[in-house]
Amino acid sequence: MASQINPLIIAPSILSADFACLGAEVKAVLKGGADWIHFDVMDNHFVPNLTIGPLVCEAIRPYAQNGGQPAMIDVHLMIEPVERIIPDFAKAGANLISFHPEASLDVAKTLQLIRTNGCRAGLVLNPATPIEVLLPYLGLIDLVLLMSVNPGFGGQAFIPSTLEKISCVRKILDNHYTATNIPIRLEVDGGIKVDNIGAIAAAGADTFVAGSAIFGKANYSEIITAMRSECAQALGQQ
Ligand code: DX5
Ligand code: ZN
Repeated sequence: MASQINPLIIAPSILSADFACLGAEVKAVLKGGADWIHFDVMDNHFVPNLTIGPLVCEAIRPYAQNGGQPAMIDVHLMIEPVERIIPDFAKAGANLISFHPEASLDVAKTLQLIRTNGCRAGLVLNPATPIEVLLPYLGLIDLVLLMSVNPGFGGQAFIPSTLEKISCVRKILDNHYTATNIPIRLEVDGGIKVDNIGAIAAAGADTFVAGSAIFGKANYSEIITAMRSECAQALGQQ
């Protein structure tokens, strides 16, 4: 069976960045070797915290560059309802928009709305959400985001049972790739550190969100390099 060969992506969550100088933080983390910027949107309703919206996305857009090219802004919506705000994020420069299926009345329609607004689309599963929820939507998504903490706050501990869930979703995505030749990324979010990223990569994830493990640390490049080398070692690439 063909397995997707997706290059590994490190997507720092700016939730743990210094908001007093967010543009500089975005620039610094990309300069340190990050690939995407993970952008956590919370509404104090779907999750018990309140964060940032399209205005902030638009403000960081000019700083999110990778070697002169726009870096992906990976928007993770933890809000309900999701539909109305999607065009606003697309206009603000988001490249990928993911949402939790529980927050949408019509998941297929919301995924299509994201794509018709020119963005890639993702579905997010909470730790307690079964993976079968994904099955009807595989043809409409570019990414699956598995939460490895209950969403709402940075700095929580990785839930170990996520590893088995990652392996199961990896099999589903590989089967889909064999049948369609269309790759879907598998992103994991919550509690990822240098000391557990190797196991998460070995289980089958290819895209890694990390907030508190990177921001607030003295040297972003050192942490991101260490994360990549742990992944390479776990995948037998070095
Ligand atoms: C949690 C957010 C995560 C979070 C990750 O609700 O979706 O993106 O910021 O932060 P760490 O890496 O600190 O767990
Ligand atoms: Zn997130």
